[in-house]
Amino acid sequence: MESTYSVYESEEFRQMLTDASAMKEPPVMDGSLRQAWFIHRCRSILSDREKALGRKLTFCVVTFGCQMNERDSEKLRGILKLTGYLEAASEDADFVLYNTCTVRENANVRLYGRLGALSTIRRKNPSMKIALCGCMMQEKDEVERVRTRLGYVSLVFGTHNLYRFPELLCRCLLSDDQIIDVEEKNDLIVENLPSERTYPFKSGVNIMFGCNNFCTYCIVPYVRGREKSRDPKEILREIGHLSRDGVVEIMLLGQNVNSYGKGLPGEVTFAKLLREVEQVEGIRRIRFMTSHPKDLSDELIEVMKDSKKICPHLHLPVQSGSSRLLRIMNRHYTKESYLELVSRLRAAIPDLSLSTDLIVGFPGETEEDFLETMDLVRRVEYDSAFTFLYSRRTGTPAAAMEDQVDEATAHERFNRLLLEVQTIGRKRSSRFENTVQGVLVEDVNRQESGFVTGRTGHNLVVHFEGDRSLIGSIVDVRLTKAHGFYYVGKRVVHASE
Ligand code: SAH
Ligand code: SF4
Ligand code: F3S
Repeated sequence: MESTYSVYESEEFRQMLTDASAMKEPPVMDGSLRQAWFIHRCRSILSDREKALGRKLTFCVVTFGCQMNERDSEKLRGILKLTGYLEAASEDADFVLYNTCTVRENANVRLYGRLGALSTIRRKNPSMKIALCGCMMQEKDEVERVRTRLGYVSLVFGTHNLYRFPELLCRCLLSDDQIIDVEEKNDLIVENLPSERTYPFKSGVNIMFGCNNFCTYCIVPYVRGREKSRDPKEILREIGHLSRDGVVEIMLLGQNVNSYGKGLPGEVTFAKLLREVEQVEGIRRIRFMTSHPKDLSDELIEVMKDSKKICPHLHLPVQSGSSRLLRIMNRHYTKESYLELVSRLRAAIPDLSLSTDLIVGFPGETEEDFLETMDLVRRVEYDSAFTFLYSRRTGTPAAAMEDQVDEATAHERFNRLLLEVQTIGRKRSSRFENTVQGVLVEDVNRQESGFVTGRTGHNLVVHFEGDRSLIGSIVDVRLTKAHGFYYVGKRVVHASE
């Protein structure tokens, strides 16, 4: 989607930019003030280049992967905008940055495909700078490949030093060498980075970084490092800023939000944080992801039940319905305890929408294991589910397991499961037909002129007649017709409107 919103800096960062502009040398201490100094430095380098070229310089950030990466990219785009670059609509730009993902093999394949295609554009603009960052760059083998084979890449950095992007950008602008700066770990949480939000009315908010769970198939803990929670005061301050800036919906982000607060002083829990977020004026909808079933507390269920703002939708990845596999996956719950958790959730919040992630073809998965997954899916009746073919990730315990499932079997199971979750999802999501729901309008409909598109609290997409002026507001819509996974509706205009 094209960006409609200009860069957002907190008051604190704006002050840092002012302070940094008076400094001759960069502050020695690592953190946002030092980075503010480098933003100024980049600005002057770029403005000289623009004068020489007689045109503005442009950038493009392409994001792969999850919401965490999306949010990181907003920060990268915010920084690039503050340095003076203009955002281009495509990769035909002077600075192209790929924020990579490596959760499954196909994420890597897509990146290399994209880089290959970029070489044609680069021929037209030889001074184009290409940079790579994100999860894939935390893998030694991938960085080695860039170093030895992709000489045209100018800059590589990782997930731990993303906040140092202004400084790295500055080095990159002043050098023709390939710069590789990836850290193994970093405990610092740098607050106040500017960001350029994709949507003016909704925003992701990081509440924690990293992951300690080491599910045996998953590479995330290796590339994102150990779990660290943000100070609740900082989170609430950011949400306050966002609200004053017109944001009505926030998505609290973490790999396992239910273990938020561990390691922080005092008795901080995710449920307590939610109670405080609920108090922030102007915020009308709260979402969060991802919830690990093993840590979902009764306190959280209570908070969800009492809340007026937390959306009645929960993403609760189960991965498999086989208790045997769940143990080998290191998930710390069983099929039975998961089903019991779902019952407790539904007893407290009757019309809760549930979505999940499922992996097919984990090493050693037998037909019986797979049938347990099918059975669980039928019993839970998810509103939607993401199904993934198991992907072998180097360095994870599962990659070394002997009995890898052959591709044909995995595909065949995958198709069976997909059909099942789609059939159930269709049935489940049609349960709102003819009801009136609050819909947050996100965009004009690109296919049908005179229509807009939004989402209900249950996370269902709705198209209805309306115009651009509705974007960002929550309006009542009667869901007249369910079409599989989306609805067509009609706005209900109240007498006072
Ligand atoms: N932290 C989240 C998930 C992050 S990764 C959680 O624990 O729920 C998103 C999803 O990718 C996972 O839920 C899992 O279903 C899938 N995934 C992770 N590693 C995978 C692998 N090696 N192969 C296939 N799918 C994988
Ligand atoms: Fe990966 Fe498990 Fe951590 Fe999720 S909880 S990111 S699946 S290791
Ligand atoms: Fe991918 Fe990294 Fe997210 S590996 S799924 S972008 S945490």
